[in-house]
Amino acid sequence: MRVDRFLSNLPRFNRKQVRLLLVEKRVRVDGEVVSDPHAEVLEFSRVEVDDEVLQVGKPARYFMLYKPPGCVSATRDPQHPTVLDLIDEPDKDDLHIAGRLDFNTTGLMLITNDGSWSRRLTQPQTKLPKVYYVETEQDITAEYAITFAKGLYFAFEDLTTQPAELVVLGPKSARLSIVEGRYHQVKRMFGHFDNKVVRLHRERMGPLVLDDTLKPGEYRPLSSDEIRMI
Ligand code: URA
Repeated sequence: MRVDRFLSNLPRFNRKQVRLLLVEKRVRVDGEVVSDPHAEVLEFSRVEVDDEVLQVGKPARYFMLYKPPGCVSATRDPQHPTVLDLIDEPDKDDLHIAGRLDFNTTGLMLITNDGSWSRRLTQPQTKLPKVYYVETEQDITAEYAITFAKGLYFAFEDLTTQPAELVVLGPKSARLSIVEGRYHQVKRMFGHFDNKVVRLHRERMGPLVLDDTLKPGEYRPLSSDEIRMI
């Protein structure tokens, strides 16, 4: 929310007072003086006027987890273990998953309580590549890369997928880079050729690469450099 709106939503300030506070440089967000009424205030921001703290700001949390097979990318599931069951953090009810994976898909999963960060990561408009290692039942022919690069029509959503890059690694294995995350996208792309995906593993989301020191089921907090990359 804009800082001027944040302040004028408080019962104690009207709009005119808010304008003055900003002009007089009496407002600080995360320790920095703010005079632009458009400056953003997040739930994580510390907001002060003079020496008074108006919002403490809750800590923003970011984790990378190596999703094992046989677990659901959801916060709760009545039948199966979930990705969140693997996380042992005090504030885990606030966390959500940025970009789900299917039950048996493995690999990089990013978990956060920061909605604008996870939107940047998953929105197709930001065009961050999601890179998957894929193994299939049948051979992967040269035609696949051409078709994926052109985009495939998905009748259910009535859309054509954005160009995707396929690098064939072996007769039945490949690395696929897609910028969207449509429902079962990778399986449906190979399904176009009646080729079943038998192993799917996410290696990377944009600049964030699955840490090779993590074992399936393990997680670690992201570094501040990693958080800033998104
Ligand atoms: N595409 C799929 O089909 N499944 C996943 O888990 C991820 C991408």
